[in-house]
Amino acid sequence: TTHTVRIEPLGAEIECREDQTVLDAALREGIWLPHACTHGTCGTCKAQILEGDADLGDASPYALLESEREEGCALLCVACPRSDLVVEGEVDVEEGVDIHPVRDRAGQVAVAEDIAPDVRRVVITLDEPLAFNPGQYVLLDVPGGEQRPYSIASSPADGGRIELHIKRSEDGLCTDGWIFKSLTAGERVTLSGPYGQFSFRPLREEPVLLLAGGTGLAPMVSMLRHLVETGIEREVVLYHGVATQEDLYDAEWFETLQAEHDWFTYRPALSRDSWRGRSGRVPALLAEDYPRASGHVAYVCGSPAMVADTMKALMKARLFPRDIYREDFFDAA
Ligand code: FES
Repeated sequence: TTHTVRIEPLGAEIECREDQTVLDAALREGIWLPHACTHGTCGTCKAQILEGDADLGDASPYALLESEREEGCALLCVACPRSDLVVEGEVDVEEGVDIHPVRDRAGQVAVAEDIAPDVRRVVITLDEPLAFNPGQYVLLDVPGGEQRPYSIASSPADGGRIELHIKRSEDGLCTDGWIFKSLTAGERVTLSGPYGQFSFRPLREEPVLLLAGGTGLAPMVSMLRHLVETGIEREVVLYHGVATQEDLYDAEWFETLQAEHDWFTYRPALSRDSWRGRSGRVPALLAEDYPRASGHVAYVCGSPAMVADTMKALMKARLFPRDIYREDFFDAA
């Protein structure tokens, strides 16, 4: 069964199946609605249902409070229609950000290699290219029917080749059960995307801080590749925080980039080892280097704890929320 969903204040009408979320239907039509986790946990996609009946799905009680349910709010990434609907959401897109409709893609694994302990690089050659903004993510289909979110590390200029950095999660269905167990080059995989509002903002001309924890590096790599290829001139400082020297990956690539481009600075940081470079967590080093960070624009990606602490350090350094873009990596397992 399909229902018609009208999205206000746009007035756009889309068709949405009963087994499809409103967010999915909108994104596939190229209608942008705010979202981050696509999982019912972050609350970014909260919207008001003005008319009709919806199944609220697997909305976290923390992200959608009982009182909000009673007022007719829903999380559109998990809500499915039970009748025709009218929903009201925040539909404004930040200027300069392209909208790429969500698409399903199939492809073949070209590379599956260990790049650090418990981290694999997986490169997928798609049958048909996927358009995305640098920083966005895909949902990878796990054998058995579930999906897992992974940020794209490759360049949007080469949409036929999707690179992912995947962190192992103990007993994780996707990682221990598949990617770290049996996945090899040649295997066919499917995915959909692009998702997320974490992406490079081309109209922000301030110097850029890229703040990554662990495999939160992936979207930053996509942004850097994009900057190099398009010749966009920005001063960029990248912090990459990991525990030990072994966990540091792609360091040579960043060192070469730094040697070739005046505008780029690479600052790897180890929280557990002392070494020739700097030791400490990214938020602490940031506080040391930037007692005042106003006039910058910051992109933060890592574990929820890393992101929360980095946000605090940035705000203390007088950066406003409007100057900070964040992506939390939920334990994807
Ligand atoms: Fe819907 Fe996170 S709760 S995008």
